[in-house]
Amino acid sequence: MTPTDPTKPLLRVLAGDRMPVPPIWMMRQAGRYLPEYRELRAKAGGFLELCFTPEFAAEVTLQPIRRFNFDAAIIFSDILVIPYALGREVRFEAGEGPRLDPLDTPAKVETLAAQADFGKLEPVYEALRRVRRELDPKIALIGFCGAPWTVATYMVAGQGTPDQAPARMMAYAHPEAFSKIIDVLVRNSVRYLLGQLAAGADVLQIFDTWAGILPPREFLRWSIEPTRRIVEGVRAKAPDARIIGFPRGAGAQLPDYVQATGVDAVSIDWAAEPSLIRERVQAKVAVQGNLDPLALIAGGAALDQAVDDVLANYGKGRLIFNLGHGIQPETPIAHVEQMIKRVRAHKG
Ligand code: CP3
Repeated sequence: MTPTDPTKPLLRVLAGDRMPVPPIWMMRQAGRYLPEYRELRAKAGGFLELCFTPEFAAEVTLQPIRRFNFDAAIIFSDILVIPYALGREVRFEAGEGPRLDPLDTPAKVETLAAQADFGKLEPVYEALRRVRRELDPKIALIGFCGAPWTVATYMVAGQGTPDQAPARMMAYAHPEAFSKIIDVLVRNSVRYLLGQLAAGADVLQIFDTWAGILPPREFLRWSIEPTRRIVEGVRAKAPDARIIGFPRGAGAQLPDYVQATGVDAVSIDWAAEPSLIRERVQAKVAVQGNLDPLALIAGGAALDQAVDDVLANYGKGRLIFNLGHGIQPETPIAHVEQMIKRVRAHKG
């Protein structure tokens, strides 16, 4: 599959074309807002069991495609499978989010493995191959990883926190130890992304959910620079790889992020400033986003307005319609249908 495959609207946007009707998918499109997801999740037992059983992961990946005919399927997995493959303890407590063994001192960082056990990630590749076989050729298949900074925030704290203070603190107090975590994540993420391309992914997305809490200097060092190294490492072996970056909350630093990392597109959150994005980001790369997930919960006229705003702000350039962050579990399915219908009726 070549990245410029003319049959896939999402790949055309990444390759430089503007589509009159923008391709659409949703971050976290396979998940708890879908009853068929909740059913399979209960059958699998745990979240990691769901991720690592190829038959289940492939099925969950395809569920939102069957229901909504999105233009992209994103492989069902999680950004924390890399720490898991590095031998860290990773658990998902129901209703509590992820729990890991904290890596919060330089002494503990000394024990971090340099190489992940890629055998543990083989089920993800197998799930990609399965989805690839079943997916309509017009639909792009997205592989992903977390950006090193965001993955490190969970590894250091051992859990999600409101402001990821433990990782920010470690980066200031022990930059050498923190660099070591980042370097290990860069190297293993490159290999993991290349494995996903080989297994059939057309596009890769790098999720940097916690990029926006960093001051500019730290953003450059811990978000931009590691992401740049991942893009470079992937393209060294797969020169045509199409890569979407999502530095959530990057705001006015988005132009620098795009320039320095070399991504083909950026996913933007709903607070992004439209003229800055149009002039200094969309003029160079494709833009993905950026509907507020709360408007999707609200529905009605507020949702119509929010959809129209995204189309008015970015529809004249290269746009992949998406949310500004993941869909929330309480979102009514009818509202997702309302959004898709309105986007696909767009006459641009
Ligand atoms: O987009 C998709 O549908 C693909 C699957 C996907 C998941 N996680 C499944 C998931 C993707 C792309 C992710 C990325 C991810 N995981 C991020 C970055 C993107 C973002 O949303 O910010 C982060 C920070 C994580 C780490 C993570 N995984 C957290 C903090 C949590 C708990 C919070 C939550 O939403 O439950 C998870 C669990 C998780 N990952 C679930 C799903 C469907 C819910 C688990 C369940 O079913 O109980």
